[in-house]
Amino acid sequence: MNLEAKKTALRMLVHGIYIVAAGQGEEAVANGVTWLTQASFQPPLIMVAIRVDGRLHDAIQRTGALSVNILARDQQGMAQTFFKPAETQGNTINGYVFEPGPVTGSPLLVDTPAWFEAEVRHSFHGGDHTVFIAEVVEAGVRDPDAKPLALHDTPWQYGG
Ligand SMILES: Cc1cc2nc3c(=O)[nH]c(=O)nc-3n(C[C@H](O)[C@H](O)[C@H](O)COP(=O)(O)O)c2cc1C
Repeated sequence: MNLEAKKTALRMLVHGIYIVAAGQGEEAVANGVTWLTQASFQPPLIMVAIRVDGRLHDAIQRTGALSVNILARDQQGMAQTFFKPAETQGNTINGYVFEPGPVTGSPLLVDTPAWFEAEVRHSFHGGDHTVFIAEVVEAGVRDPDAKPLALHDTPWQYGG
């Protein structure tokens, strides 16, 4: 295989940047994640790939649930905070206030324009990331006019 072309082609995939969170109270964890997409209308499924060696992976496996916090285009600074290990203190993660989701209790960051909670239905342990297939069980929109943050709007890369 042409490794350089593989890397360049895979980096041309179009992704958003989301904050995926799991766990409750002091055990809440949240990370910036880009490998995430919808996978079914009925039932409403999403798929997300999470690093096997991270704390977020453990929290999703332990609770069987996760939340997805959608970022707006002007929230690049917030996204950057979540590429580091999560620090949870009281009702904040990395300094951002969260509240428990109404259905799964997964953390919802209150400053983001939209969110959903999902329950894990399947997981595929294929490589250095686990693919979780999860069913959306609740959602909320705080700002319907927000434009979502895309990886290509930022200087960052994740892929190849
Ligand atoms: C641009 C970018 C995109 C990322 N996308 C993902 C992703 O899709 N899945 C994932 O598990 N980690 C992803 N990460 C890595 C996590 O954000 C990072 O491993 C985590 O925040 C570090 O926390 P930890 O050391 O506690 O695991 C991404 C990082 C960056 C910089």
